Amino acid sequence: MHDVTTSAIKSFENISDARPKMLIQKLVKAIHEYIDDVELTQQEWEMAIDFLTRTGQLCHEQRQEYILLSDVLGVSMLVDEINHSKNHEQTPSTVFGPFFIANMPVRHYADSIIEEKVGDEMPLLVKGKIFNQQGEAIKNAKIEVWQTAENGMYSGQDPDQPVANLRGAFMSQENGEYAFKSILPVSYQIPSDGTVGELLNYSKRHFWRPAHIHFMIIAEGYQPLVTHLFIQNDEYLQGDAVFGVKDRLIVGFEQKQADATSKQQFGLDESFNLIEYDFVLSKGE
Ligand SMILES: [Fe+2]
Repeated sequence: MHDVTTSAIKSFENISDARPKMLIQKLVKAIHEYIDDVELTQQEWEMAIDFLTRTGQLCHEQRQEYILLSDVLGVSMLVDEINHSKNHEQTPSTVFGPFFIANMPVRHYADSIIEEKVGDEMPLLVKGKIFNQQGEAIKNAKIEVWQTAENGMYSGQDPDQPVANLRGAFMSQENGEYAFKSILPVSYQIPSDGTVGELLNYSKRHFWRPAHIHFMIIAEGYQPLVTHLFIQNDEYLQGDAVFGVKDRLIVGFEQKQADATSKQQFGLDESFNLIEYDFVLSKGE
């Protein structure tokens, strides 16, 4: 080990909390080992600083290039795997992604998340229940949803969409039910105009993610669940640019004719697509 490595690790000796101390010291050790292993040149060091600087400069309230970088490096899914793989009964989690926007409108049961209709897409109804692992319904769970528009872009990313378009929060009912109206999401390319784009282009990697709807479900006494529902038969399910697909999160949809119930319960008086999916949360903080 180089003297500077030993000294740098030792310089963090006075951190009083054991876990942060271990995290920082092991990080320093791992970075030093990497640099030593590849014999990093001065020029490569400058390139790395420049890349990370520009990545940070791209970030603001509605853009998170660092999360995107973590995603395409497989780091986000590794963290997910380490933290959630032990529990097979709960709904699998997947990447949070860079497109979440906080404080979106809290909408009512069966409301639409469409703020501005662009195309002539068939309405989509997404519904199901929130359960715990004992099969008991969870009421008052907060279900945040976000997805792309027909053009493959999220609000926040696309200046032409109202910021709350295809986003919203729903509270589960007394019997655990949730429902909302939307349109089918489409497969989309992650942003290519930043440092992540440079990296993927340089690596001859594609930018596509299979169509999905994002969910973040928070209920008191339960572990938060961050996940997606992927739409079956999407051509990118096999090659997701951020490695986020899990089989149990792939759902089909069915085309339904409107009837008295659909009209009365969900305000649907034309043909619609239906996705039904129940989420299972684990007890915990
Ligand atoms: Fe997404």
